[in-house]
Amino acid sequence: MNYKNIPLKKYNTFGLDYIAEYMIRVKTEKEAIALFKGSAAWKKPHLILGSGSNILFTSDFKGTILYPEIKGIKIEEQEPDNRNVIVSAGAGVNWDDFVAWSVNKGFGGIENLSLIPGKVGATPVQNIGAYGVEVKDRIVKVKTININDGSRRVFNNHECEFSYRNSIFKNREKGKYLVTRVYYRLAINPLLNLSYESLKEEVNKLGAETLINVRQGVINLRQNKLPDPEIIGNAGSFFKNPVVESCVALNLINEFPDIPVYKDREGYMKLASGWLIERCGWKGERRGDAGVHNKQALVLINYGNATGKEIYNLSEEIRKSVHGKFGIDLEREVEIVGVI
Ligand code: EPU
Repeated sequence: MNYKNIPLKKYNTFGLDYIAEYMIRVKTEKEAIALFKGSAAWKKPHLILGSGSNILFTSDFKGTILYPEIKGIKIEEQEPDNRNVIVSAGAGVNWDDFVAWSVNKGFGGIENLSLIPGKVGATPVQNIGAYGVEVKDRIVKVKTININDGSRRVFNNHECEFSYRNSIFKNREKGKYLVTRVYYRLAINPLLNLSYESLKEEVNKLGAETLINVRQGVINLRQNKLPDPEIIGNAGSFFKNPVVESCVALNLINEFPDIPVYKDREGYMKLASGWLIERCGWKGERRGDAGVHNKQALVLINYGNATGKEIYNLSEEIRKSVHGKFGIDLEREVEIVGVI
């Protein structure tokens, strides 16, 4: 179905009030193939939009928004060793509904990713992660349609080129493939991941270390720290956590002994953007209706009537001050769409 002049407020979690010239809702794989094979004319450029939970619009969108609504969760197979099942979900399935479904079935592996806003189709694009788990550890393959010619392509895990909050779909082949269905490997007898200390504490408060309690523990932590986009506009972490050479991290530790640093690949360490931003005095600050969350400085928020440009400008101010104090360049996790 093709729509014209769509208000985007409901389609981005910042709640920004821009207009998209066209929107096409894609309900099945067949519809996507017909559309991209060229039988129907549609206006370029395009933007694939999930639930708009990682996007900052800064102007109206002149072109077509492709909005996948492919549904369905399916147990595809049980692996021969009886340890895992392969489960697939349509790109349009709400991510947290899928996590709830898998926890209810007793399947483990994605419970730490509870309550992350967004849809299944965005999970491989972003390689979503939280509390010591990244979705790349569970993705077996990703079914896609090539937007240029309607051909099908299946990417196995390796071909997705996953890294921290990144994949081939966000990077080298950005905008070229529409994800239709994602296949995950889930454990029948799950090994819980409680490596994140405050999650372990939260789960222990709830009782036994079970799949259901891990999900509930994650929900509690997120609800305590992160604003609910239904109530206050935001897109989760606005910046990535910077990965720096170990010598850079060691110099920072000398100067700021309480700075949190985490192990990363050989020779590198990861810093916490939230800490850097808070230390620059930004927590709870406001520029009009654009602000920095008062419980988690990595989250920028729209108090109601901020424009995308105002949020962008605030993010630039933050980047400059973090660079000034620590010499670190923050990279945005959120994608900017529009004129700046
Ligand atoms: N911190 C501060 N001040 C703040 C925020 C954080 O000092 O305002 C410190 C914390 O005390 C902690 C460290 O920074 O020592 C890390 O903070 P936290 O554990 O809250 O996690 P994060 O690094 O800020 C990342 C992800 C989140 C994910 C959490 C939990 C990124 C960019 N963000 O945040 O993901 O939920 O870990 O695993 O990697 C998202 O991507 O949208 C997202 C919310």
